[in-house]
Amino acid sequence: MEAAYRLETTWNPEGGPNGRFTFSLFNLSDEALTGFKLVYTSLTRVIDPKACENAVFLRRNANFHEFAPPAGLSIEPGASWIFTVSGLHRPAKHCTDGAKSAYVTLADGKHVAIAVSDLLLEGRVSEPPPVLLPEGRLELPFALQPWPAEIDVIPGDGFPVVLYPAEGSSKDELTTVSTALALFRRLFESGHAPFNLSVSPQGRPVRFAHDPSVAKEGYKLTFSTQEVTLAYSDAAGRQYGLTSLAQLLHGARSEPNRFRFPASGTITDKPRYVWRGCHLDVSRQFYPVADLKRLIDILAWLKLNIFHWHLTDDEAWRLEIKAYPTLTTTGVLRGPDEPLLPQLGNGAEPVGGFYSQDDVRDIVAHAAALSVEIVPEIDIPGHNSATLIALPDLTDGQEAPDSYHSVQGYPNNALNPAVPLTYEFLEKVFDEMVELFPSEYIHIGGDEVANGSWLASPLAKKLMEQEGISGTFALQSYFLKRIKDMLTARGRKLAGWNEVAHGGGIASKDSLLMAWENPQVGIDLAKQGYEVVMTPGQAYYLDMVQAEAFQEPGASWAGTVPPAHTYGYEAEGDFPEELKDKMKGVQACIWSEHFLSRGYFNRLVFPRLPAIAEAAWTPKAKKDWHRFSAIVPLSPKL
Ligand code: ACM
Repeated sequence: MEAAYRLETTWNPEGGPNGRFTFSLFNLSDEALTGFKLVYTSLTRVIDPKACENAVFLRRNANFHEFAPPAGLSIEPGASWIFTVSGLHRPAKHCTDGAKSAYVTLADGKHVAIAVSDLLLEGRVSEPPPVLLPEGRLELPFALQPWPAEIDVIPGDGFPVVLYPAEGSSKDELTTVSTALALFRRLFESGHAPFNLSVSPQGRPVRFAHDPSVAKEGYKLTFSTQEVTLAYSDAAGRQYGLTSLAQLLHGARSEPNRFRFPASGTITDKPRYVWRGCHLDVSRQFYPVADLKRLIDILAWLKLNIFHWHLTDDEAWRLEIKAYPTLTTTGVLRGPDEPLLPQLGNGAEPVGGFYSQDDVRDIVAHAAALSVEIVPEIDIPGHNSATLIALPDLTDGQEAPDSYHSVQGYPNNALNPAVPLTYEFLEKVFDEMVELFPSEYIHIGGDEVANGSWLASPLAKKLMEQEGISGTFALQSYFLKRIKDMLTARGRKLAGWNEVAHGGGIASKDSLLMAWENPQVGIDLAKQGYEVVMTPGQAYYLDMVQAEAFQEPGASWAGTVPPAHTYGYEAEGDFPEELKDKMKGVQACIWSEHFLSRGYFNRLVFPRLPAIAEAAWTPKAKKDWHRFSAIVPLSPKL
């Protein structure tokens, strides 16, 4: 059913310190609309409640906004109510900076959906969308992505119908081929199978050769018209060799005028970095298990080996913890009448979603079979609005409400290092996590604790006195050292965001930090002895807009990130030679604030995710943007 109301929003750079929104609420129902309140969610927040005209600001929580019309207003069928809001915390820059969702609350308390439109720039014409991906150019006709370290092959005239394990292959080898085939079938449902297990006279055998001299995760393919040999030293390398064969055959079959299958020669391949990651924020938006499995399939196809699963944030705690069931009831459900209010595209209907421990086991096993390790993240101590709403005993009851705000606008959202229950809670959470996740690292977040956090908490003040420390970040460091001890006691290493180093940080041994704020931060962390993964927002945050144009969707606080920039960025660039061994690799980050649908997800994540995969794998001297552009249209999407 079509919505009975529609909200349209325009933004004008004039009219306030950060411009002005004009909202038009159309009544498309058959009855006059009176005595109601309007709610919308928008990342462009209102900070001056008085700076609006023809409406009354009622309340805001992060990006949830509630307004009332002027007293007595009635919107007749077919008419609209127009009001303006100019007390904004920043200017709007893109079409996704307006209302992401809206609803009305009627006099009887009922909530009714409102359709919303993307933000329009007032009084300007839209520029045509830019071309972000050139047609590309191939020097060698092979559909490999990421491009291999060494390739010295002659293209064949035709290609084998299918590849099959040579006679005498072990059960283990047959199983690997079956896994590679299943991956291909999931990614390209209607594509012709590259492998089968039966000896096929019109196909070509693949002979496996275990060879300890092949690099870790590497492989060597030797082609002839009689057979292909695949040499490897570990399971990941064997899988990647098969993936390359599947890519070669898929390319040759799908676009025979551009891509071919090798008739002779060798491909000798290995990754540039050991950490080739992709992060996904499942808190802001929930992704069903099937979507996660498909994303993991895509990572495997691109030879990425880490899935960093950002399971908790202010907006929801998505991981079932048996000791604390309210985390995934109260802590996930966002709705007009729930403790967690609608945010980021939520409307009149409550929305939830979480991963049961059975779901987690299923996803971890799915990933492991594809040589993808899952690094789970519980983001602490900041970004915990949902946790604190689900478990109010974790707060210091004497702390003044609204005593500090996160950069996303959440009040008092950090776990309190001076509340003893905080540690009991986290011990139990980690106990359950280590049973679920076999990963070397547990990621504990550590990002964006607001300066000023806990300073109005009497318990925190007392603890700081006792410890002889002062200030938010000294207290954060005290807290994170205790967290590090908890992980060490469970045999796990600590991963975190770059702010873990603030206020004195933690022991650098077995601590890996992700440099997201900017590239220089990564070098500074390496100097302090931390291992580093480079995830700078300016190149690797896939929620960033890809062009300047107003109608480009996405965030822009880290700048504009065209695919060519993501591809060309050299994370290792300014690392001094003596610190390069601290730089373990690179990672894409998929923050979900703007990903209200698969359409937005695919538009922003591709082709930048494959671009990062190539940056993670392919030696610098072999990177080639035009070759990448020619091949990437073959990449699967979500
Ligand atoms: C982050 O972007 N807050 C890690």
